[in-house]
Formats: sequence, structure tokens, C-alpha cells
Amino acid sequence: MKTDQAVPEANPLSSLDVWEDDLLDRYPDPESIAKEKSTEEYRNYEAPARDSVKEFYRLNHTYQTYDFVKEKQKEFLKFDRKEMSVWDAFNFLNQLVDDSDPDTDLDQFQHLLQTAEAIRADGHPDWMVLAGLFHDMGKTLCLFDEPQWAVVGDTFPVGCAYSEKIVYPEYFSNNPDFNNPVYQTKYGVYSHGCGLRNVDMSWGHDEYVYNMMKDYLPEPALYMLRYHSFYSQHRENGYDHLLDDHDREMFKWVNLFNPYDLYSKNPTPPNWQELRPYYEDLVAKYLPATLKF
Ligand SMILES: [Fe+2]
Ligand SMILES: [Fe+2]
Repeated sequence: MKTDQAVPEANPLSSLDVWEDDLLDRYPDPESIAKEKSTEEYRNYEAPARDSVKEFYRLNHTYQTYDFVKEKQKEFLKFDRKEMSVWDAFNFLNQLVDDSDPDTDLDQFQHLLQTAEAIRADGHPDWMVLAGLFHDMGKTLCLFDEPQWAVVGDTFPVGCAYSEKIVYPEYFSNNPDFNNPVYQTKYGVYSHGCGLRNVDMSWGHDEYVYNMMKDYLPEPALYMLRYHSFYSQHRENGYDHLLDDHDREMFKWVNLFNPYDLYSKNPTPPNWQELRPYYEDLVAKYLPATLKF
């Protein structure tokens, strides 16, 4: 990958896709299991990749503190870095191509397009298709020199006790918040059923793209963007005590979205020239001429 090998220690993954490959290992496609396609055939994971994922989570769990999250919100949610048309933004995002393995890895745009197309094929509302098309746009954080552990990885609430349902929970003992008694009760700085809108999540591409899109898309689409990497809740229900009824309603959409993100990857790219008019109309229907980063 072009951008994130400058500081190898901060960026243990050979590409951001390695994190997503690991998600597929943790949450294999039930349909391919049913067809008895072994998960091994799906993703044959070699030890060095696994080690890099572990190291990646060690960094993520060590450095994603409550103060770090507040700092990044201040820094990035001003959106004063760049302003681009949507189509230039996809080209910008595509600078994150993994050139170590060009045959098997699709570029970022192909993953977004395949996610959107899979949603469209199942007849879901057009704003959900648009959520599919944009859900990883926040990975442009990497192009602003943010380390991998502050861009991808499972997200989780900061400012309260860590759920055991988060992958590699043992690494949280390295986090300075772990020794702050205010942050280590079940509710921490929050209260029972306070609603996720009042909860600060670990910083990454989900929170960033949610804020980028929040004035333009319907609320269920915004939940999909904001919580698509919150696996300890949408897959494991580890934070039910913070959700309110509205969150529970909206998480039905997050759950509906997740399989399209994880299981739509296909080595054959969709025909963009054919699809282009549909997506140009869709983007024009919901989004302004330019997006701010
Ligand atoms: Fe994502
Ligand atoms: Fe994705």
C-alpha cells in the first residue's frame, strides 16, 4: 500500500484489506458454509497475516483513549482539509490500492460498488444503495497520514468499561483509560439506556464518514455508516445497556447492512460503464456537488 508503509511499526497491516479478511474469518458467510465451501478455501490465512492483525489490535486497543477520540473529533470534524466532487473523492480514495497483490485485491471503489450493487439487487431503498457506495469513504483518513489503528478495526465505546465481546480484549489493559476508575465502570461517563447518540465511539472511518454524510442521508443509512464496524454490538450485543429503543429500531438496519459489506466481495468487477448513469443520478439525488474532507 502506498501510504501506510512509511512508519511500519504504526501500520502493521500490509493493506487495510487484511483487517477485513480477518473479519471474514471471525464471521464467515453462512451461505458459503451451507454450500460446504470451507472457510479455508474462502480465506486461507497465513500466520504472518494473523500476527499483523494481532499487532494491529494491540495498537488500536492501546491508543484509542477517550481523550484521543475527543482530539480526533476536533481535528477532523471541521472538514477543512479538502473539497472534492464525489467522483474525484472516489479517485482520491483509490490511492489506497494494495499494490503488493494486484491480482486478488480489488480497489476500494470496487468494494464499495459491489456492496452497493448487492444491496440494489435485493431491492432495498436507494438510500441504502448509496450507504453501500459510501460506507468506506472515511478510509481517506489514511491519506491524511492517520495510522491504520485510527482508521479501521472494530469500533467500541470509549469512556466506559470494555466489553469482553470485543476482539482481543486482553490488549485493553495497555490503554491508559483502563486505569481510570471513572471510565471503567459498566456505564462510565454514560447512563443506562442513554442512547448511542450520547456515546463517543473509538475513532475511525465510520465516525468520519457518518459526519461527512449526516446532512444528506436518511437516518437508517446514517446508522449503517456510523456503526458498521461496531461488531461487539451488531454481532455480539455487548453494549445493549447503552442503547435506547430508537437505537434498537435503527440497528435492524445496521444488521441488514453488514452481510452486504462482508460477503459481497467478488473477483469479477461490475461493469462500471454500464452502471455509471444509475449512480450519477443517485448521487445527484441525495448529495451536493462537492464533499468536504
Ligand atoms: Fe468499513
Ligand atoms: Fe466495507
